[in-house]
Amino acid sequence: MSIKNIAVLTSGGDAPGMNAAIRAVVRTAIFYKKKIYGVSRGYDGLIENSFAELDSKSVKGILAQGGTVLKSARSSLFKTKEGREKAAKNLKSHGVNGLIVIGGDGTFTGAHLLHEEFRIPVIGIPGTIDNDLFGTDFTIGYDTATNTVINCIDKIRDTANSHNRLFIVEVMGRDAGFIALSAGVATGALEIILPEMNTSIDELLDSVQRGAENKKISNIIVVAEGNRLGTPFEISSEILSKYPNMDIKVTILGHVQRGGSPTTLDRVNASIMGVAAVEGILNDKSDVMVGLLNNKLEYTFLQQAIYNKAPIDIELRRIAKILST
Ligand code: F6P
Repeated sequence: MSIKNIAVLTSGGDAPGMNAAIRAVVRTAIFYKKKIYGVSRGYDGLIENSFAELDSKSVKGILAQGGTVLKSARSSLFKTKEGREKAAKNLKSHGVNGLIVIGGDGTFTGAHLLHEEFRIPVIGIPGTIDNDLFGTDFTIGYDTATNTVINCIDKIRDTANSHNRLFIVEVMGRDAGFIALSAGVATGALEIILPEMNTSIDELLDSVQRGAENKKISNIIVVAEGNRLGTPFEISSEILSKYPNMDIKVTILGHVQRGGSPTTLDRVNASIMGVAAVEGILNDKSDVMVGLLNNKLEYTFLQQAIYNKAPIDIELRRIAKILST
């Protein structure tokens, strides 16, 4: 199919580097002499007809900015067929027959349906701090988020050392523990608790005991938001029931992890993937996500990217345990 006009949107949780991807998509489309529209507020904007034609200058100065200039949303309307029908109509009214979506699994679920129900060519760019998409080693935003996390935990370590305290630090990751795992290794955490694994209270208490036996001055336990053991406060209570005199503090890092200027890796990956998304769509690829596997560009079917589990490197947890003794 010959692509006339292209549209780009960001959807779901924002991630640092989304702007670098938007810039790459816009400039590549213009390079190939295609008209490019930016859709604001993700799928909600698609339904509400929030299209704006972009030129090279519209994306000037955004490469280093966190967030997304197109804004983002988690659209409940797009989950309905009526919503998607409206969106398809709006795309057609602008002569758009190529849509590039930047986001995570929810975003790709919607894009896949749009392709399936209305035959609109779609390509996904993985943009989420969670790194939980199959078909790419890195999602855009993950590297920046983990760097933010380790900067915060390094600061927490300073105060933990000064008071001989144990800190339980909760990081983002509703369903995936990539951030917790990398950040845990990078900050010398005593224990890392992930959504992908069952960690028993006994195992946790063993680690705490190990820390005490080794006379560690401070201890950090990194827990992913979606872990199976409980909230950081519940985990703290469990530890206190065995060690009532232990000085424990809880820190929930929250949305600070989603902001900030993207790292070099996120900017470079976003640039590579943005170009590849436009070139892919111009070469009749559709219903796929662009990704980087072993530094090589790969296109993975959206359904596979969503439903196959991105493999987590559990070995890293063992390494963290060895190194934190
Ligand atoms: O998907 C990215 C993410 O940051 C998750 O790690 C987190 O659980 C979720 O988004 C938070 O979403 P919201 O900003 O909508 O509360």
